[in-house]
Amino acid sequence: MVNAAVLGYGTVGSGVVEVLRTNRDIIRRNVGDEVRVKYVLDLRDFPGDPVEDVLVHDFDVIINDPEVDIVVETMGGLKPAFEFTKKALKAGKSVCTSNKELVAAHGTELLQTAKANQVSYLFEASCGGGIPIIRPLISSLTADEIDGVSGILNGTTNYILTKMDTDGSEFSDALAEAQKNGFAERNPSADIEGGDACRKIAILSSIAYGRHISWDKIYTEGISGISAADFKYAQEIGAKIRLVATSVKKPEGYYAMVAPGMVNESDPLYGVNGVFNAVKVHGNMLGDAMFYGSGAGKLPTASAVAGDVVDEARHLHETITTYWSDEELPLQPVGNMENRFFVRVQGSASDRAEEIRKIFGNAETISLPSLPGEFAFITDRMKESEFADRSGKLGGMISRIRVLFA
Ligand code: HSE
Repeated sequence: MVNAAVLGYGTVGSGVVEVLRTNRDIIRRNVGDEVRVKYVLDLRDFPGDPVEDVLVHDFDVIINDPEVDIVVETMGGLKPAFEFTKKALKAGKSVCTSNKELVAAHGTELLQTAKANQVSYLFEASCGGGIPIIRPLISSLTADEIDGVSGILNGTTNYILTKMDTDGSEFSDALAEAQKNGFAERNPSADIEGGDACRKIAILSSIAYGRHISWDKIYTEGISGISAADFKYAQEIGAKIRLVATSVKKPEGYYAMVAPGMVNESDPLYGVNGVFNAVKVHGNMLGDAMFYGSGAGKLPTASAVAGDVVDEARHLHETITTYWSDEELPLQPVGNMENRFFVRVQGSASDRAEEIRKIFGNAETISLPSLPGEFAFITDRMKESEFADRSGKLGGMISRIRVLFA
């Protein structure tokens, strides 16, 4: 018998209990032993819930029970999740988690603590919900130099952007609908301002490149400035607007960014809709691979956590190695990154053609009858800093979005 304790009986924690119970026989077959939820830790009581009998309010009960082999941390946040995780690892218990905030902030330290105590720290569910992506990076793509990771890493924003595209709605209405349907938190700022995707690309990139990328060094923009009008232009040029998290190796070094971008049919991200996520990985031998699936939600996320439980149950008192050095990987200044830009400006294309040409060269312009008094144009590729300089000379700029196709 392998005993697990689940910390936090919220959406993901209750999902993990459900997966372990519903798929008990499959899990027994895959582990070669029974996996039992011996404890669930939560501050709340759950009268009538199946976990009532195993519910505890005191973490010490778990840490002091030598029968507990695996701790499932689904509390989220840093406090007390960091302290509890450290204590569990030091007590010789493997830990698995969906907590990207904790992994992005303290992942290397917790991996070292796990190694020092001959246990494992796994976090498949921290990126891409139910999509297997961490394990392929660690176990499968091990003979390649990974030189690019990018994708749609946040289900909430992808749901909102998909709604805006299909319904023509404004951001605030699409967000309200996402909240009504349970696809967005009441406080959605971590999702809509890009912080969630930023932590996920920091984790994936750190593992892909083997050195630590600090999430707070990654240039991040959210989607709250995207409007229904932006989508009208995007549709005109056969594009969709998505929140894209990217990191890439260039000859001069590594870049990372989270920002809304226009993608067209040439990019597989174009077909990623609703709460789905996708991660593209480029290797020097592999070329391109894409991992796609349910990126958020109770059971997809719980499925990934439960997969880690199975892995840890198969390797009790061993360390499953994740190569993620604590040596910082410095990022290049974002101003040196090259992009094309879609730019909306006030006025008419015919009146301002010469001015645009002088500042940006021969840029293609788009005017829509449904949006009088403004037009848009798309620039050639240029450095972010160069775009900032040139657009500073442009009066009446309404918005700009990066264009991620040639
Ligand atoms: N809030 C996250 C999202 C949950 O919307 O993708 C999954 O990490």
